[in-house]
Amino acid sequence: MKILSVYPFTHLSSSALLIDGEIVAASAEERFNREKMSTKFPIQSAQWCLKSQNIQWDDLDLIVVPWNPVININDASGRWVNEMRWRGEMITNVAVHLMRAIDEEPANEMEMRWGNTRVLYLNHHECHAANGFYLSPFEKADILTIDGHGEVDTCFMGVGDGKVISKTHQITYPHSVGLFYGTFTDYLGFKPDSDEWKVMALSSFAVGQNQYDAKIRGLIKLTSDGFELDLTFFDYYTFDRRPHFYTPKLTNLLGPPREPNGEITQRHFEIAGAMQRVFVETVTHLLKITKQRGGSDNIVLSGGAAMNCVFNGLLDSLDIYKDSCISYSPDDSGVAIGAALLAYYRYAKVKRTITEVRHNFLGPSFSDEEVSQTLCKFKIIAEKPESLTEVIAQGIADGKLVGWFQGAMEFGHRSLGNRSILADPRFESIKDKVNSAVKYREHFRPFAPATLSEYADDIFEMPKGRKVYFMERAYPIRENWRERLGAVTHVDGSGRVQTVEKKDNILFYELIDEFRKITGVPILLNTSFNLNGEPIVMTPENAIRTFYSCGLDWLVLGPYLIKK
Ligand SMILES: [Fe+2]
Repeated sequence: MKILSVYPFTHLSSSALLIDGEIVAASAEERFNREKMSTKFPIQSAQWCLKSQNIQWDDLDLIVVPWNPVININDASGRWVNEMRWRGEMITNVAVHLMRAIDEEPANEMEMRWGNTRVLYLNHHECHAANGFYLSPFEKADILTIDGHGEVDTCFMGVGDGKVISKTHQITYPHSVGLFYGTFTDYLGFKPDSDEWKVMALSSFAVGQNQYDAKIRGLIKLTSDGFELDLTFFDYYTFDRRPHFYTPKLTNLLGPPREPNGEITQRHFEIAGAMQRVFVETVTHLLKITKQRGGSDNIVLSGGAAMNCVFNGLLDSLDIYKDSCISYSPDDSGVAIGAALLAYYRYAKVKRTITEVRHNFLGPSFSDEEVSQTLCKFKIIAEKPESLTEVIAQGIADGKLVGWFQGAMEFGHRSLGNRSILADPRFESIKDKVNSAVKYREHFRPFAPATLSEYADDIFEMPKGRKVYFMERAYPIRENWRERLGAVTHVDGSGRVQTVEKKDNILFYELIDEFRKITGVPILLNTSFNLNGEPIVMTPENAIRTFYSCGLDWLVLGPYLIKK
């Protein structure tokens, strides 16, 4: 069965191709059109997905979309169905009128057909749930998804069993944990629905309770089946393009908001810290409800809130579930993948195959020959070192900043060692060097430590054997290592670890291991290969252009080394 999934128009457009249960190709559209967080229709990535597997449009059994426009057109606004703004709305308008006439609930899914093409519009949160569950190693698990909002849901609680996902409960708009977080992203002068991770980084500067904890806790009432926001403080839910997600009542409570690019003061740290604690309390409460209604020992966490690696790092110690899994793309970057898997397990007459997903290398790759041709085209003189990993590891230990381009591009927001910028993790000054020479980004945002898996629990306070393939969890760095890891230790002593195993990425593993032999530190600073405000590089051309636009010292393209 061949299923193409396309997700257009919201935070990040993307495409994914599934063949017989396996995701074989996937990419965000931004990598192709070079517009960061592009929301344009993902036609270039869709066409690449097909081309990469020699598939024609006619070969597809199904096209799926992880959003069903019928669900909320019924509730959101009566005027939408009475006055069509353009003729295309007739497609959903007819469905809505008929559902009302027949007195049916809005259909959870909608299907369209023309010729041989069949397009299925799926429920957004079910696609988040499918991304989490079908990419997990669990036969059975409880599932909790949390985001800003889907069609009407902001939170899905359910159970996955074999190939079946069923819902036990949901929380609906406008009560939203994701938009609660987004409101503070906006209040603190950042871009909501985009910069939440900057707020998470700020929160680590104020770890103890402060004067704002009680005030912000008062905005959320935890209830027996979820939570309710005090909506008088929020202004994101009117759909009227209000200037901010918050009302003046919030500024009366907390003081003036921070201007974008304004100075960050202790007050901003404290507000971010207090808000993150309330977020943790709320999600913990939702986990307990999910457990009461599901009852599994395993939890799958998905939705944009599952990008909060500070919370994810606490999952082991909360003592609610024995084991947990968060996929490489729990946020909206991954719903295209969830939609393809959801449709497959619904329509294919197969048992679910459970494999542990350990990487996200689903994008384009380039042969050595293609790289060589690109170097010739640009008249770039490159070396081809006999022992690449030894040479690069020594360079990094000598202070070089390296662009590292290998194999297939990662899917989602995190580079795991194929499109990475690598540096020495030992000295705090390196962090500033990467920031000023390459990333041009805020000083308070930490870099991730890519760590040889077998050393991880010696260095981080994490359960023995815990794998963190996707940098999805932050753990405290052990006291005796913090001094030795100045560039990757966050202000609260934590690190957003990535555990690297030989069988998943042999070249990256060997590079870190060579660095360990030279320095005694089995870790490299790993950050995505892009400049601030640009998408991660996809092609050798993108990498070369980026290399010559910033302060990187070396560029490694496959087997080739380019030096400035
Ligand atoms: Fe979402």
